[in-house]
Amino acid sequence: MCGIVGYIGNREASPILLEGLKRLEYRGYDSAGVSTVATGKLLMHKRSGKINELERELTMRGMPGTLGIGHTRWATHGEPNSENAHPHDDCTGKIALIHNGIIENYSVLKKELQAKGHHFKTQTDTETLVHLIEEFYKENGLLEKAVRKALLLIKGTYGIAVICSDEPDTLITARNGSPIVLGIGNHEYFVASDVAAIAEHTCNVTYLDDNEMAVMHRENLVIKTIDDRPVEKRVEHVAFDLEKIEKGGYHHFMLKEIMEQPQTIFDSMRGRLVEEEGTAKLGGIQHELESLLYARRVLLSACGTSWHAALIGEYMIEEYVRIPVEVEYASEFRYRDPILDRDTVVIVISQSGETADTLAAVREAKRKRAKVFGICNVVGSSIARETDAGIYLHAGPEIGVASTKAFTSQVTVLSLMTLLLARMSSMSSSRGREIVQELKILPEKVKQILNAHKDIEQIAAKYANKQNFLYLGRGYNFPVALEGALKLKEISYIHAEGYPAAEMKHGPIALIDDNMPVVFIATKDSSYEKIISNIEEVRARKGKVIAIATEGDDFIKTKADHTIYIPPTLEFLTPILTIIPLQLLAYYIAVKRGCDVDQPRNLAKSVTVE
Ligand code: AGP
Repeated sequence: MCGIVGYIGNREASPILLEGLKRLEYRGYDSAGVSTVATGKLLMHKRSGKINELERELTMRGMPGTLGIGHTRWATHGEPNSENAHPHDDCTGKIALIHNGIIENYSVLKKELQAKGHHFKTQTDTETLVHLIEEFYKENGLLEKAVRKALLLIKGTYGIAVICSDEPDTLITARNGSPIVLGIGNHEYFVASDVAAIAEHTCNVTYLDDNEMAVMHRENLVIKTIDDRPVEKRVEHVAFDLEKIEKGGYHHFMLKEIMEQPQTIFDSMRGRLVEEEGTAKLGGIQHELESLLYARRVLLSACGTSWHAALIGEYMIEEYVRIPVEVEYASEFRYRDPILDRDTVVIVISQSGETADTLAAVREAKRKRAKVFGICNVVGSSIARETDAGIYLHAGPEIGVASTKAFTSQVTVLSLMTLLLARMSSMSSSRGREIVQELKILPEKVKQILNAHKDIEQIAAKYANKQNFLYLGRGYNFPVALEGALKLKEISYIHAEGYPAAEMKHGPIALIDDNMPVVFIATKDSSYEKIISNIEEVRARKGKVIAIATEGDDFIKTKADHTIYIPPTLEFLTPILTIIPLQLLAYYIAVKRGCDVDQPRNLAKSVTVE
């Protein structure tokens, strides 16, 4: 969940490292540090807090050197402070290391190293690895060999980069579980957790796979397995639009990404709608369509917001394709010995494509011979590379930790997959064409909702001081209630729960009084009458009702304290519209409460550790 970056070349390293860290800050932002090698010395500066504070201090004190590594942290072991910030150095002060991941056997190794006289300065698991490298470096005096030997003793996950003042022409990186991309420039090399950190310097990249290590000298790059076997790697050309990772004049990435959704929903459908046949085409799963269509059962697995999208996918596929679907939290799926076989298709959903639990679910499903599909946003991510077939969202980089545009693109892509499979089974072409026409005008309808953001801001102002919220929905909008509650929790730190509206009577109704705002997704669909009764039950207990309703529904205005209208659409597509006001409500409440919307406390964008 941390961000790591490294550089070796002819340019000053620290400005390149700092720019890279700023682009990785969404991965972890409780402390940061940089280390370089200059005139045979190892220089290091690290501190708790944000990158711009580190940058200010580095500008004042200067950090020369054309070889260096940098890290932005999301603490797992040892509280976020300047001592525990990375990089970590060894007893000699010659070797520096940065790490993203968790070393599970660190305490055993630490005891052995302390017994050998090593002096530890931090509570981190990572420091153990740099002392282990030091131990082997003492033996053989070769950094590559020392790192290789040390990594063979490590249990756990890592993406690391290592430098040493004795070897000013060597930058080493290795991966097991955490993402590492290498950038190949003109007489220079880059290492990063994510292409975004190095895209302004090169578009030529190669991705390390698990148990691989790369050794970069100023004029060459060698990639081998941890146990020293050569590896051939393809260099890929990644088109990266840097503008896409700027705020574009918005206060926060989250607001920019919410406002981008008309375009990103359009982009996730671009070239995938086949109007005349009323179907969709998805090149990335074409070669495995039969296995999906004739699956005895489909299992969707994901985490967080992606799991909410999976729930909507379940409703869609079961309603239109009539294949039984189950939805599993990836973290539970991977450990509960799931029953899988050749006739089961597993579909994992992950914006980042790096979420550790979801990646492990992919590997478990493959181990059990199930076909595994992926729906990802980040091109070249681990999940995208390890699944048998997949669909990219094309939503562009999502920087805000609270996922917004990825969710609506995930639901859009799931509706395209549903349409494709339904047209291959029982759906008529006229029904298919109707759905295609409705999908085409969705971006316009989203724009309409976004235009009312000021009204939503006013409602938010009224409830920004509340400590609890309840979100209720039925059918396709039950997962939207869950997602709306998650958005509010993540960025405003208000306790919020989402529930199927009918479940309210079985407990949560006890929470309702005139201090409890209840958000209802009450669009005009098959469960409208039922949801109106639920609204009455809340009003009877003086709960404050905020209703997401369908344009033209004047009746609901008489039942709700606040009504936010959305344009009508097909029932299975409503989540793409009903979530928008909930994203804005959460955003404006968080801003009103002075929260750091883009980097909410305790969170990180991509959860690459268990
Ligand atoms: C959502 O706003 C959160 N950032 C989080 O729940 C996220 O959805 C979850 O960590 C899954 O991430 P992924 O889609 O990148 O796998």
